[in-house]
Amino acid sequence: MPKNILITGGAGYIGSHISENLIKKNKKIFIVDNLSTGHKRLINKKAKFYKVDINNKKKIKSIIIKNKIDSIIHLAGSLIIGEGERYPKKYYRNNVLGTKSLLYSCVNTNVKNFLFSSTAAVYKNSVNKVTERSITKPKSVYGKTKLKAEKIIIKCCKKNKIKYGILRYFNIVGSSKSGKIGLINKGDHLFKNFSGQILKKKPILKIYGTNYSTKDGSCIRDFIHVSDIAEIHRKVLDRINKTNKSKILNCGYGKGFSVIQVAKEFSKQTNKSVKIIKAPRRKGDLVEVIALNKNLKKFIQWRPRFNKLKIMVISSIKWERKI
Ligand SMILES: NC(=O)c1ccc[n+]([C@@H]2O[C@H](COP(=O)([O-])OP(=O)(O)OC[C@H]3O[C@@H](n4cnc5c(N)ncnc54)[C@H](O)[C@@H]3O)[C@@H](O)[C@H]2O)c1
Repeated sequence: MPKNILITGGAGYIGSHISENLIKKNKKIFIVDNLSTGHKRLINKKAKFYKVDINNKKKIKSIIIKNKIDSIIHLAGSLIIGEGERYPKKYYRNNVLGTKSLLYSCVNTNVKNFLFSSTAAVYKNSVNKVTERSITKPKSVYGKTKLKAEKIIIKCCKKNKIKYGILRYFNIVGSSKSGKIGLINKGDHLFKNFSGQILKKKPILKIYGTNYSTKDGSCIRDFIHVSDIAEIHRKVLDRINKTNKSKILNCGYGKGFSVIQVAKEFSKQTNKSVKIIKAPRRKGDLVEVIALNKNLKKFIQWRPRFNKLKIMVISSIKWERKI
């Protein structure tokens, strides 16, 4: 069983939830993070924290050896789509070269398993229900760097007999039940923006694009709760370790909610009078993206626990109120 696990980006939103989940299962967690977008307050007290950049090959290798790391969960990276278009070199350096450097640090050590946080942004734009075999043709710089990193991981892991799990996340929302961790950075995050609005005196929820060819005209997304994502990591890690199999897996519920449905659910959760207003379409928004998740379900016998829209909305507002 994986025991000593290094999480890169463990001071971030998703990494902190994975750490919490694994620590509850008595795993020893080591976190490497340069705190560029991460937060000290999200780091679990039971984890050993190193403020290091993943590009620092020498230091990372010594951390891996010293702590007898057997598994890596690699989340460190840059992930804001718009920023990637403005600073493509930064994204290439961090997501592609950073991953390469981290992999080099794993060679000739005890590392046997490598999980990577990839994204639905690697798929071709026009496809709305995707399996892992759907065409990958990322539109954004961010998606391109993630796909490139995937390819490097597959090649390097095969060569060095490391098992890999490439997890393509869809839209991650919500916060841990513990109330201790959640999403801090604003970015361009629907649930974050709506949660912030709901706490205002006069909430305004903007719907960008209301004349798409969907049931209510707004975009449709496959949202997945961060606590389910954390559990997926634990189970996939155990499974690739046990079966000796490497996998690429979509991580989504396979069910879409429209932006208007989400806005209405947020509105239901408050007594204030909420204005839901129409705004023009945004350039680059996809109409509908949904994960076909048969492979994930089969591989880890997965049953989602937090997949009700109401649960995802309440969990996001609860955290927003706290911070
Ligand atoms: N949030 C989502 O909806 C989503 C969806 C798909 C994929 N992902 C992927 O999941 C991963 C984590 O995302 P998140 O939402 O938790 O973001 P986040 O910004 O909260 O976490 C990223 C963490 O990585 C750290 N980091 C960045 N570059 C680093 C470097 N060079 N060295 C060391 N640490 C570094 C940051 O300080 C931060 O703590 C990312 O790789 C992202 O691409 C996220």
